[in-house]
Amino acid sequence: MREHNACVVGMQWGDEGKGKIIDLLSEEFDLVVRAQGGSNAGHTVVIGDRQFILHLVPSGIIRGADCVIGNGVVIDPDQLLAEIEELREQGVEVAGKLLVSDRAQVVCPYHKALDGAREQAMGDGKLGTTLRGIGPAYADKAYRTGLRIGQLIDPGFVRDFFETQVPLVNKVLQHVYEAEPVDLDELVEWGLRSGSALKTMVGDTVEFLDQAARDGQAILFEGAQGALLDIDFGTYPYCTSSNSTAGGFITGTGLPAAELGRTLGVLKTYTTRVGAGPFPTELDDELGEHIRQQGGEFGATTGRPRRCGWFDAVAARYSARLNGVTELALTKLDVLEGIDPLKICVAYEIDGRETEVFPAQADRLAAAVPVYEEMPGWKEATATGDTFDTLCPQAAAYVNKLTELVNAPAKIVSVGSDRAQTIIG
Ligand code: IMP
Ligand code: MG
Repeated sequence: MREHNACVVGMQWGDEGKGKIIDLLSEEFDLVVRAQGGSNAGHTVVIGDRQFILHLVPSGIIRGADCVIGNGVVIDPDQLLAEIEELREQGVEVAGKLLVSDRAQVVCPYHKALDGAREQAMGDGKLGTTLRGIGPAYADKAYRTGLRIGQLIDPGFVRDFFETQVPLVNKVLQHVYEAEPVDLDELVEWGLRSGSALKTMVGDTVEFLDQAARDGQAILFEGAQGALLDIDFGTYPYCTSSNSTAGGFITGTGLPAAELGRTLGVLKTYTTRVGAGPFPTELDDELGEHIRQQGGEFGATTGRPRRCGWFDAVAARYSARLNGVTELALTKLDVLEGIDPLKICVAYEIDGRETEVFPAQADRLAAAVPVYEEMPGWKEATATGDTFDTLCPQAAAYVNKLTELVNAPAKIVSVGSDRAQTIIG
């Protein structure tokens, strides 16, 4: 294991606060790398009165780290270019600091159309995707009918590619979903324009990362989404289309497992989820609404209200194991101020049997009734300083309880959105 490298992974259904944690850590690293997902991700970083929301560019860019978007990511060129422009307007220069993998897949406009059409056709059974074209783009990758960034920047390739794909895509759009077809010439024009705008940022990130690792550079792997949204280990089919657990860092960058380093699992001190799917500890009541308001639990990508609920230790232990979590970052502890008592789910009861195993099938999870333990809440400020001993006694007890249940030490406890509101052990 490379001691100076680290992975940051989400341990719930995304939105654990990874953006803040990566920003916090990025000064210690030479390189910050994204390996999976796409612009479905929304990483929020707050510095003083400035707020940055990142979707594709690694959060390390804000502190001036060199950044890589690895081969496992699906890239919407419009989104990436808009994000780079927005960062520039906020005083963050991306040019010369970002390398985009030539092997990464392109999210084409029709992927977004297909995502929307499919969700609409599914009616009540819809997944509640971010409508960013993620599923269709990964499906094309697996079908081997996708377009890679390295091909997008090759003008000779773009027309041929769309000439082959567009008739097929339009058959699906028109005849399966009764949706509007896409226009070949417009797509070719879009492809040429996007390729030419991205060209200077594109390279062979496999070679680049290999060299960086051999030079002893410290690499931070930035996870997107969370373990419970992983395509294999998450609540399938209510999940995303990539491996959002630590294994995704290997296949999504080309670096070997030995380069991953320590694994910091980011855990919100309660639970949230956006989109459809089972959520045993959900609070579909006033308390859930209170947490949503206190925690600002609205999607950074879609603005949708997030579903909120109690901390789920069964899910957290499962995630810790899947990711090989060596330490925890516990986030948004301050949001729990004033809630008394606090509940923690320590087991599930499924069909009358108690279990600590996170079920493989979503319908089993939907049938799970949480077994709760109660902890006393607190009314005073969660912390008065930036060390563990400044946590109020009940907050400290709650933190200790979570680390015991998950069986990993807390390295970071976040008690507010600003960088200064962080306890680092
Ligand atoms: P998709 O990734 O857009 O296909 O959406 C599939 C599911 O994953 C939906 O429930 C989304 O709300 C959820 N999802 C995808 N990305 C994120 C994220 O970054 N944070 C939280 N939820 C996400
Ligand atoms: Mg998010």
